[in-house]
Amino acid sequence: MKKFPIVILISGRGSNLKAIIDAKDPLIEIKAVISNKSQAGGLLYAKQNNIKTEVLNHKNFKTRLEFDQALQICIDKYQPELIVLAGFMRILSAEFVNHYQKRIINIHPSLLPTFKGLHTHKRVLEAKIKQHGASVHFLTEELDAGPVIIQAQVPVFSDDNEDTLAARVLNEEHRIYPQAIHWFAEGRLKLRGQQVFLDNQIIEVPNETF
Ligand code: GRF
Repeated sequence: MKKFPIVILISGRGSNLKAIIDAKDPLIEIKAVISNKSQAGGLLYAKQNNIKTEVLNHKNFKTRLEFDQALQICIDKYQPELIVLAGFMRILSAEFVNHYQKRIINIHPSLLPTFKGLHTHKRVLEAKIKQHGASVHFLTEELDAGPVIIQAQVPVFSDDNEDTLAARVLNEEHRIYPQAIHWFAEGRLKLRGQQVFLDNQIIEVPNETF
């Protein structure tokens, strides 16, 4: 049986990449791991697992568009059916996002739509909110605003600091990202308009999570 080809983009540590590799999903084949940083820790783990790696340094390109075009060419060599952003710290142009419409997903460390953007754990602690979590979502032009596929919630404890909270959220990220990819590979996940369906059932994600 032909495996479902995916490409994973990273910029750093790569713990989500590791979780996806370690899940050993028999349905998927990781065709390549691409990083915009040569020092990204995840590259080594990919190599150790005999996965092709590529580095495309954004600093070698004059504009965002030029980088995105080169990235697109690099990705398309592998003909993936899904592009998985796993800690890829570059904002992607509308052209790029539209090219991969409905086939590009991201993981974000908050219960979207709350806490878009950076430093989510710090901001959650400052806001004294009691629930936090992670979301896997389809990528759209607007940052962290695409339709949510799956979320996981974690409690925030009064003695938490950024590290303890990040670790608790990360544990959940490592569970829900392989799950979302598996659904995708099974063909059970569909995006119609702004609505995500699993087996033709609408995935309900609360608008407000606290
Ligand atoms: C994760 O917290 C993810 O949600 C965010 O960036 C971080 C990447 O971590 N987008 P890692 O490189 O997968 O360890």
